[in-house]
Amino acid sequence: MEDLRREAVNVLRRNGRQGYTAPARGLYTHQHLWDTCFIAIGQRHYDVDAAMRSMRRLLGAQWSNGMVPHIRFEPGWRYWWDRRIWRSWINGAAPRGVATGGISQPPMIAEAVVRIGEVLRPADRTAWYRSVYRQVVAYHEWLYRERGTQGDGLVVQIHPWETGLDTTPPWLESLRNDRPPRWLELVAWTRADRLGRHLRLDTKYVPANQRSSELEALRLYDALRRIRRDRYDSATILRHPPFAIEDLTYNSILIRANARLREMADDIGESLPAGLDAAMHGNETALESLWDQAAGSYFSRDLRTGRLLAEQSVAALTPLYAGCIDGTRAKRLVRMLNDPGLFATPYPVPSVPPGSRWFNPVRYWQGPTWINMNWLIIDGLRRYGFSGEADALRRGSLDLVARNGFYEYYHPLSGEPAGVRDFSWTAALAIDLSQAPGEPGPAGPGPAEPGEPGPAEPG
Ligand code: GLC
Repeated sequence: MEDLRREAVNVLRRNGRQGYTAPARGLYTHQHLWDTCFIAIGQRHYDVDAAMRSMRRLLGAQWSNGMVPHIRFEPGWRYWWDRRIWRSWINGAAPRGVATGGISQPPMIAEAVVRIGEVLRPADRTAWYRSVYRQVVAYHEWLYRERGTQGDGLVVQIHPWETGLDTTPPWLESLRNDRPPRWLELVAWTRADRLGRHLRLDTKYVPANQRSSELEALRLYDALRRIRRDRYDSATILRHPPFAIEDLTYNSILIRANARLREMADDIGESLPAGLDAAMHGNETALESLWDQAAGSYFSRDLRTGRLLAEQSVAALTPLYAGCIDGTRAKRLVRMLNDPGLFATPYPVPSVPPGSRWFNPVRYWQGPTWINMNWLIIDGLRRYGFSGEADALRRGSLDLVARNGFYEYYHPLSGEPAGVRDFSWTAALAIDLSQAPGEPGPAGPGPAEPGEPGPAEPG
């Protein structure tokens, strides 16, 4: 375990840049929102200052309307093109002098802030919470004000990249449901997409069969073009969105982040704004509307059709992490996790189960096992008292990483590594998962009875 931790720290050091740690060298050099949070959760164990610094830098990219963007771009001439693609400056709320993306990503910020707080002395913890509290409140307010406008208590995501699980099959299908723009039809008709292969950056680092096809990548780009045309203004975009999903993972993470925000508020003696407090309660109740009784599973909802997207993916297990479901539902999710016909593959948890018509064991979010999803599920299992399952998944995840290296994702049937190597969140979360039970981190003490809702706070 010591060797694994040492190697993980080395990976994170090598991926270090000015004030933050990049997700990986070469392919992902910019600062990404949820990557930064997962990385900080690992870093806090050996360099809490670096963890705080990178969180502050991320919050330094916050828009004046409260949005924390999914990417803060590196300055410098080399990245001119990346910044040009997004052109965040077309929206007046974007910060001056900092180029960012125009969408957000799963709101892991409050979780990372509190995890950092856990390793600080009480006085330092309070000072740390105070220093970021207003910004986190503004972020959650933005989420409900601008993305909770459909009035059903959930927040909506307007681009697949916003969900963090970029190529989850129903997302691609939802994009395909729209008629493509003429230029894209022309590209498809002339098969010019094959030329695009030479322009892509990702396939220079990762075999093409592990990424999206050229046409899918162009579809994702077209959705970006459409929201950029609306200057990233949520209200305008939501009148005719290229994509509008009430994502189960995103909403589960937000519900958990809300609980973390409450802890911060309690610690520093603040009360949350009344409107935000009500929206946070509403979100918990609204998660139930994503339950499909016939299928016995939670799913995301496509707002454009109003229907639940009844395609199985690892997202189904994230309500455990949300922590607001009842014990019967939690037991049902654990049965799914243990079901060899669903998620119980030799190297769990597959992002899409092998029985799905979409399953592809090495392709991005279409089948591979991702360590960050395992981390969320382990945390949820522990809080609901399933410590046996939590520990088995924790040990399995560490073993997978120890045998294969710190990769972006892994083949759920053979364990082979795939995606980009030396991936920061895999390294950081391996450090966190390797902490002995009882120490700060998801391995903290859990509740007694399996299936009962966990305490507000682990460890
Ligand atoms: C991939 C992932 C996304 C992550 C990014 C940077 O695009 O799908 O969730 O934030 O890489 O690591």
